[in-house]
Order: sequence, then C-alpha cells, then structure tokens
Amino acid sequence: MQFENLLVESQYDKHIALVRFNRPKELNALNRKLMEELRDALKALDDDEEVRVIVLTGNERAFAAGADIKEMADRSAIDMVKIDQFTTWDQIKKTKKPIIAAVSGFALGGGCELAMTCDMIIASESAQFGQPEIKIGVIPGAGGTQRLTRAVGKARAMELVLTGKFINAEEALRMGLINRIVPVELYLSEAVKLAKEIAAMSPIAVRMGKEAVLQSYSGSLEEGLQFERKNFYMLFASEDQKEGMSAFVDKRKPDFKGK
Ligand code: CAA
Repeated sequence: MQFENLLVESQYDKHIALVRFNRPKELNALNRKLMEELRDALKALDDDEEVRVIVLTGNERAFAAGADIKEMADRSAIDMVKIDQFTTWDQIKKTKKPIIAAVSGFALGGGCELAMTCDMIIASESAQFGQPEIKIGVIPGAGGTQRLTRAVGKARAMELVLTGKFINAEEALRMGLINRIVPVELYLSEAVKLAKEIAAMSPIAVRMGKEAVLQSYSGSLEEGLQFERKNFYMLFASEDQKEGMSAFVDKRKPDFKGK
C-alpha cells in the first residue's frame, strides 16, 4: 500500500502489519489527508485475511502532536460541521483486529486520542501524553474527554483536560493509561512482540474478545455480561475452539487456522 503520509509494512511477520505516521517535520500532526489515508489503510488491513494484528506508530520524537492546528485555525464553526473531519477517525474504532499503539515522544491532543482509541499502548521512556487543546482555546474533539475519563478516572481526566498539562510515561502507567514502558530503542520491538503473542491465538477468539472488552464501554454491566456470554458460546462453533481445547488435553501446541 502506497500513501503520502503513512508507511505500511509487514516486515516483521506476515500476520502483523505496521503502520507508521510519516510527517516527521510536523511531529506527525494529523491533517485530514493523513487521517483519510489511515482510514483506508486500516480498512484494507482489516479486510486482509493474512493480517491478524496491527501496530500503529510514529517516530522516536513524536507519535503524533495532535490534529493539524494550521489546517484548522481559520475555520468557522459551520466549516467544521460541514467538513466533519472526525468521522474519518471512526474507522479506528470500527477496526475488528487488535491495534497496538507504539508510542514514543509526543502523543498530544488528537495523538493521545488516537492512541487511546487503539486497544493497547506500549510506550517508550520518552513518551508524553496530554490533551493540551484547552491551551489553544478548544477542548478535545476526537474522544479525549470520554476515553481519558474511562481510562484514568474523572478527577485525573478533569485536571488533564482543564490544564492541558502533559504527563510522562511513568505517570501514564500509574494512571492505567498504558500497558508498559520500555527503553526508547525497544518500544517498537516490544509492541511487535505483543502483537506476535496475540497473532498466535485464534483470530476468531481474538476478534470476539476485543469486541466483548469494548462492549464494556457502552451500555450497562448486565448488557456487557450478556454480550460476553453470547460470544463465548458462539466460539464453540469454530474449529479453533476444538483445536485449542484438544491441544490442551493432548499437551501439545495448538495450530489455529482462523476457522
Ligand atoms: N499542528 C500543526 N503543526 C504542528 C503541530 C500541530 N498539532 N504540532 C507541532 N507542529 C509543528 C510546529 O508548528 C512546527 O512547525 P514549524 O517547524 O513549521 O514551525 C513543528 O511541528 C515542530 O514543532 P515545534 O517547533 O513546536 O516543536 P517543539 O519541540 O518546540 O514543541 C510541542 C513540541 C510541545 C509538541 C509543540 O509543537 C506543540 O505544543 N504542539 C501542539 C500540540 C497541541 O496543541 N495539540 C492539540 C492539537 S488540537 C487537537 O488535536 C484537537 C483534537 O481533539 C483532535
């Protein structure tokens, strides 16, 4: 796949796709074109049978420093409503395969929101997270007030959203925003390692597991429990369930086919 603002590779493993933001001079500011490309790339990877896990990353200095402020600065409210740029972002949450964000450097504003929309976050020691929109007279617009609050709780989210202050990787870990911190030179390989671990599992079970975890975000606990139970029962229609359980009984490694 060829894009102007993204690099899409599968160099690590045929089941793992790596998507890199590629606007280094602008600290990977997320302009509309980049987000349209990300939508198209994620859609294509989600439809590709070979791919099981997606890793999304930037570079050492920046995962992404937010939506492109220069592109938005002069717009009116009516322009914003008409352009409705955040609908392009919906593909991230619609992607059925797991997405791991490998974050180094700045993950700010839309960059932090994008990382939080992914399913897991591996951070380098230099990672910095924040929702600094308040400092430019706006508020998060791509899910920050909702996802940050669910991830770290009301009091902490409120402080971050209302002051715009950044937090480092240690604080993000303590707050439960990220999975773990690794040295800068390892953040991508650690994300790929996690991706490989997940890619070795039954793709159908992974899909249903992701769906069920995300269900906990919407609706009541009761609805979530029902949803999870239905997905659990449904998995007994897959060959992978038969293979996984009989491999356990036979004391051998399972060979999952995604069927
Ligand atoms: N949009 C457009 N350009 C950006 C950008 C952004 N979000 N962030 C950085 N850049 C550009 C800078 O303008 C600069 O370009 P020039 O070289 O042409 O001047 C280049 O990237 C490098 O940035 P700095 O010189 O500012 O680098 P720094 O190391 O001094 O500071 C920074 C880094 C603290 C991240 C700073 O760039 C910054 O504060 N950026 C903006 C962060 C921000 O406010 N993000 C939220 C955006 S709004 C949003 O995301 C809404 C939403 O909910 C989706």
